[in-house]
Amino acid sequence: MRIVLGVTGGIAAYKAALLLRLMTEDGHEVHVVPTDSALKFVGKPTWEALSGRPVYNDTFEAVEDVNHVLQGRRADVVVLAPATANSIAKAAAGLAEDLLGNILLTATVPVVMAPAMHTEMWENPATKANVATLRTRGVHVIEPAVGRLTGVDTGKGRFPEPEDIWAQTQQIVAETQTGDQLAGRSVVVSAGGTREALDPVRYLGNRSSGKQGVALAKAAAAQGARVTLIAGAMDVQAPTHPNITVVRIESTRDLLDAVLEHAQHQDALIMAAAVADFRPATATNEKIKKHDDATAPTIVLEQTEDVLRTSIEQRAAGQPLPRVIVGFAAETGDETTSPLEYGRAKLQRKGCEILVVNEVGIGKVFGQDDNDVTILFANSHEEVSVRGSKDVVAKAIIEQVAAALA
Ligand code: CTP
Repeated sequence: MRIVLGVTGGIAAYKAALLLRLMTEDGHEVHVVPTDSALKFVGKPTWEALSGRPVYNDTFEAVEDVNHVLQGRRADVVVLAPATANSIAKAAAGLAEDLLGNILLTATVPVVMAPAMHTEMWENPATKANVATLRTRGVHVIEPAVGRLTGVDTGKGRFPEPEDIWAQTQQIVAETQTGDQLAGRSVVVSAGGTREALDPVRYLGNRSSGKQGVALAKAAAAQGARVTLIAGAMDVQAPTHPNITVVRIESTRDLLDAVLEHAQHQDALIMAAAVADFRPATATNEKIKKHDDATAPTIVLEQTEDVLRTSIEQRAAGQPLPRVIVGFAAETGDETTSPLEYGRAKLQRKGCEILVVNEVGIGKVFGQDDNDVTILFANSHEEVSVRGSKDVVAKAIIEQVAAALA
C-alpha cells in the first residue's frame, strides 16, 4: 500500500525511522513528510535513504505535483508518528501551515496518530480536548505507552513501540477496507457471556470478553451484511456501525428469545456467545442474607436452554431460521480426547453447518487478543485452521459463511 508517514518534532522522531523500516521491509511505498522541527531531530538524508524516495516538507516544493492535495488522497493511510502535543493541537484546529498540515486537511483515507510527549502534556485538558475532537472526526489516535520518557522521568506519553504502531495501522486499514462478500445478506451474531441471576445482586457468569463476537459483527458488516449483534456481558464496547444493530441481553433465556425473534428470515446465525449451561434453579427476589451461625446456602442448578440446538430444531420444524448456522466449541480436551475430536463430535451432535473449535484454558482465548481456531464443516471433511488476532479469525470465519451462502 501507499503510506504517508508524517513525522513531527519530538525526540521520538528517531524511532519513526524504525517504523519506516518496518513499513518498507513489508514492501510498502512510503512517502515521508517531516515538519521543520522533525528535521532538527532527524535530517532529510535519513528519510530519503530509508524510504528510497525524495522527501518534501514545504508546500511550495514540487508544486507541479500538487503534493499538498494529492498525497493524502492517493495514499491508503496517513500515519503521524510521533504526533507531538503541538501537531495534535494544529490538526484539531485544522491548520495548514506546512505540507503535512495540508495533507491532513485533504486526506480522505484513514489517519493514524501515535502520540509522544511528556505525561503532563498528554494529560493537559487542552491536549485531551484536542484528542477527543480528532477521535470524533474519525482520526485513530493510538494510546501512548507508559514508561521512560526523554530524560529520567517516566509516565504515560511514551511513543508506542514501532512494531505496535505498525500492527495497529495495518489493523485499522484492514477494518476500513470493505468488501462485498455478504452484500445483500443479513447475519445475526451473538457475543459475550450470559449471566444467570441468583438473587437481585448476584449472578453466575463466565469469562467471555465479547471480543470475538464483536470482531465477527464488524467483519460481516465490512463485507456488506446487515448485522444484528445480540450482546450479553462484554468487556469491550458494542460497535457503532451503520450496518450493525445491537440488541442487549442478560440471561440464556433472554438470548434464546432474542435469537428466535431476530434470526427469523435472516441468512446466517453465528453463535459466538459463551452461553451458561446451568443456572440457579431458583432466583430469589430478595438478596440472600448471611447468617450468624456461618452456614452457607446450597445452590441447586438446572440446565439452561441450548440456544444453538433449539434454533436448529426449530428450523427443522419449519421456522424461517437461517440457512447457515455457525456454532463455537470451546474445548479443553483431556488425556484421551483432543479438543478437535470433541469438536467433531459436537458438530454431529448439534447439527450446525459450521463449527469453530478453539482450545480454552486459564489465560487461553478468553479476554486475549489472539485466537487459534479450526473451522469444521458439516458437509465436508475440510478443516480450515486460522491463527491470529480475533479480527483475522473473524475475517476467515466470515469468508466461510459467505462461501456457504453462495
Ligand atoms: N450454546 C448454546 N446454548 C447453550 C450452550 C451453548 O447455544 N446453553 C452454544 C454456544 O454459543 C456455542 C456452542 O453452543 O456456539 C457450543 O458451546 P459449548 O459450551 O462449547 O458446548 P456445550 O453444548 O455447552 O457442550 P459441552 O459443555 O458439553 O462441551
